[in-house]
Amino acid sequence: MWSMLLLLLACQTAPEDSAVVWSSEACSENVDIPTGFLEDLDIAADPHSVVLGAAPAPRWIRYQWPSVETGTSAAFLWGTDLDTLASVVEIGPVEGFPEGAVRYEGASFLYGSGEVGAGLYRLHEVRLCGRLIPGTTYRYRVGGEGAWSETFTITTPADELDSFRIGIAGDSRGAYETWGQVVEAFDTAEVDFILFSGDMVEFGTSQEEWEAWLEAAGDVLARRPIVPAHGNHEFLSQNYFAQFALPGNEEWYSIDYGGMRIVVLNDTVRDAAELTQEQAVFLDQALTEAGDDWKIAVHHQSAYATCTTHNSDLDVRAAWVPAFDKHDVHAVFAGHNHLYERSVPIRDGAAVGEGEGTVYVVTGGAGAPLYGSTEEQWFGAVAVPTNHYLIADVTPQEMTVNAYDLAGNVIDTFVVPR
Ligand SMILES: [Fe+2]
Repeated sequence: MWSMLLLLLACQTAPEDSAVVWSSEACSENVDIPTGFLEDLDIAADPHSVVLGAAPAPRWIRYQWPSVETGTSAAFLWGTDLDTLASVVEIGPVEGFPEGAVRYEGASFLYGSGEVGAGLYRLHEVRLCGRLIPGTTYRYRVGGEGAWSETFTITTPADELDSFRIGIAGDSRGAYETWGQVVEAFDTAEVDFILFSGDMVEFGTSQEEWEAWLEAAGDVLARRPIVPAHGNHEFLSQNYFAQFALPGNEEWYSIDYGGMRIVVLNDTVRDAAELTQEQAVFLDQALTEAGDDWKIAVHHQSAYATCTTHNSDLDVRAAWVPAFDKHDVHAVFAGHNHLYERSVPIRDGAAVGEGEGTVYVVTGGAGAPLYGSTEEQWFGAVAVPTNHYLIADVTPQEMTVNAYDLAGNVIDTFVVPR
């Protein structure tokens, strides 16, 4: 299976619009069927209708951000049986819900492994662009008459926040019990959202794995959005893109949250130009737009890693680190090496003082088999081969990041000044 998938990735050509630098502002309420590495499917999503199938109860409900503007935009995704076509969200004030709620109709589509008869799944999606008010608490439910989900409460972020909290993890692939523990810790810590540095599953084409990953997260992703980076194990698969509603082309995009710009990149590319040209240009633009905001990047294969399994990714270092330097990116979070690592602050390829450079973090400890071998490198500050997750507390002045093992012990703390 590996060789087949790798061959598929190697042989496919870049899509026709690959020269387009995707705008980080793009938000569309259209529900498009993701293709991944499949041929153009040339079929439309099924618009909402009142049809309910045998198992219409919404499952694996996700609240997501399909736009850079997280204060005003949202997407809601869920699964049902194949026959259910009810794709509605009702969202409104908490008090007296559903009175006062506004109803939005979306669409749904079937997707699968790409092999005829190998399994199909239905995903429902409702996308709202610019329809919500920043800094507002809402209640919502999804589904339709006769098949409503339970209700969930969410709060849209204000443009500038005095404080907020991020949960950060990566590399859960194949170990969904551990991933469930990480998500539970994020929920207990009341993180505002989750960053994930890629490799959620072992085989991105396996819907069974995605369902195990979603099942382990319980209802947390219905209340706390996850912002994912694409990892090499996701295979650019249709299944990967079906799980999430993200801005732009969903491979590289930005979101703004309460005074922080987060740029997400994809380092599993079809050809080198996607690293060195398209994403490098996008990255420079996205960081220029960010001005004096907090600037964070997330991707999978770290530019700086002391772990000897995969080491540093020198292609990524050559393609993107100049922009991280130029724009004073505060921290970059990656995974791929299955351990916790933190670099010293780095600028222009050398160690610099605290607050003067970018801190490179490897967080690949959400369940995948651990890698214990590291080597002395000038940039390495901390390396701990254990399952773990990060909690980042952000204020306008500083970001404090604690790394925890799964027993809740702090294994590292660092502070990044604005
Ligand atoms: Fe990986």
